[in-house]
Amino acid sequence: MNARPLLVAAFALAVVGAAQATTEEAMPGVYDARQAHSDYKLKCQGCHRPDGSGDALSNPPMNGHVARFLQVPGGREFLGRVPGVATVDLDDVRLANLMNWTLYRFDRENLPDDFVPYSATEISALRKRPLRAERAGVREGLVAQMSGVKF
Ligand code: HEC
Repeated sequence: MNARPLLVAAFALAVVGAAQATTEEAMPGVYDARQAHSDYKLKCQGCHRPDGSGDALSNPPMNGHVARFLQVPGGREFLGRVPGVATVDLDDVRLANLMNWTLYRFDRENLPDDFVPYSATEISALRKRPLRAERAGVREGLVAQMSGVKF
């Protein structure tokens, strides 16, 4: 019997396993990536799209952008206070899990080196003060502080 196909299959499985382990390890603050992805599908992607690309009209893109808010003063608070985040019907633990996942999944490259994942306690405090009509102005002010970014 030729053992080669078996060896190849075993190797492929090992590679897939290692890749999954790396992804999980590299998402501090995400206790359940599968849960986060399913929450994103149910609660967020209708507006932000499955690939985080948003649309050119009113729903902003996440991919390549969302973590930039963490680079400017006030941006971290803003992310926890936009209505789509603050008012979603998920508990604080699941929402913190989802927020951290969203940042890694869609904009890992713009995460500050010293990024500290959102905790449920922080999310709980932020979502108690959801932004209302003033959010467009707040957002504009934050985007203006990001160098060379247009979105
Ligand atoms: C009804 C459409 C809608 C849904 C659903 C929605 N969002 Fe949003 N989201 C927006 C819009 C529009 C903005 C821009 C700020 C604003 O006007 O609220 C935004 C802004 C954001 C921001 C700030 C970044 C930026 O570019 O402004 C984050 C982070 C975010 N949403 C995450 C989420 C997550 C996570 C969910 C699911 C729990 C979600 N959103 C659900 C429409 C939506």
